[in-house]
Amino acid sequence: MELKIEHITKEFKGAKAVHDVSYCMKSGVYGLLGVNGAGKTTLMRMLCTLLKPTEGRITWNGEDIFAMKGEYRKILGYLPQDFGFYPDFTVGDYLMYIASIKGLKPAVAKKRTEILTRKVGLSKASKKKMKTLSGGMKRRAGIAQAMLNNPRILILDEPTAGLDPNERVRFRNLISELSTERLVLLSTHIVSDIEDIAKEILLMKEGEIKYSGTSEQIIASMPERVWRVTVPRKYVERVLKTYRVSNVKSVPGGAELNILAETRPFSEAVEEKITLEDVFLYYFGEKAGEEYDTL
Ligand SMILES: Nc1ncnc2c1ncn2[C@@H]1O[C@H](COP(=O)(O)OP(=O)(O)OP(=O)(O)O)[C@@H](O)[C@H]1O
Ligand SMILES: [Mg+2]
Repeated sequence: MELKIEHITKEFKGAKAVHDVSYCMKSGVYGLLGVNGAGKTTLMRMLCTLLKPTEGRITWNGEDIFAMKGEYRKILGYLPQDFGFYPDFTVGDYLMYIASIKGLKPAVAKKRTEILTRKVGLSKASKKKMKTLSGGMKRRAGIAQAMLNNPRILILDEPTAGLDPNERVRFRNLISELSTERLVLLSTHIVSDIEDIAKEILLMKEGEIKYSGTSEQIIASMPERVWRVTVPRKYVERVLKTYRVSNVKSVPGGAELNILAETRPFSEAVEEKITLEDVFLYYFGEKAGEEYDTL
């Protein structure tokens, strides 16, 4: 089981949305982490054969996915970022309808629909209309539709967008569960969505995969360290303009800050354990001063 991307580029009217990306994925969860406009959706749409790369090749077990046509679609499940649903369909009808589009036989479709509504925790809601579901329930119905054909490759574009913290936890558990003997690629801009469940994390910025590896490897790649310091209120703004600050907590008279710096920024600063959140800020964040400069 191997999905291989080789030197993929996608240009839109001369602008490169994805630029020379190469990566090899096997089974397990892969987290595609990047800010808005990084190229996540564009990359995923190419992996789903919905967009043709301007350059490069994508293969599944050595075979070009565009040449595989229907054979590839059979092993693929996709939850688009803005997934369309039919507001007046019930959850059950919606899944049966998508199953028919995917070419499942009615008896198989019925069975899969039952299994999946249970798996994503929508059994009680199966007779509810899609438009009456909460954001989290809709996303779960979206995952269920992507899973109808029991795909080997499951591509989920921002499946946790708009979910509350409880639903996020539930989602992580569901995705971990679905990843056994399957390749799951999921995009997000929220570190905690993938920190604990992703086997490998791909940091995408301006169309490129800038860094990749296990959570531990990415943390180890950061040249700066994290320092905690309590700063009186009148100095907070200056510190924010000078350093990258990953955490600000208000305390009486000032703020407790987590500062990213190679060496101890203040004599009283205490070194903290680096988290993936800090690394994300290091690669993607700006100092408050830089943000003001661009205004
Ligand atoms: N069909 C298109 N035509 C022209 N430009 C496009 C098209 N689709 C995407 N782009 C551009 O490509 C870049 C990457 O967009 P993409 O949607 O892949 O980013 P993303 O990482 O998914 O962002 P988000 O987190 O907001 O979903 C953006 O600059 C976007 O404007
Ligand atoms: Mg996107």
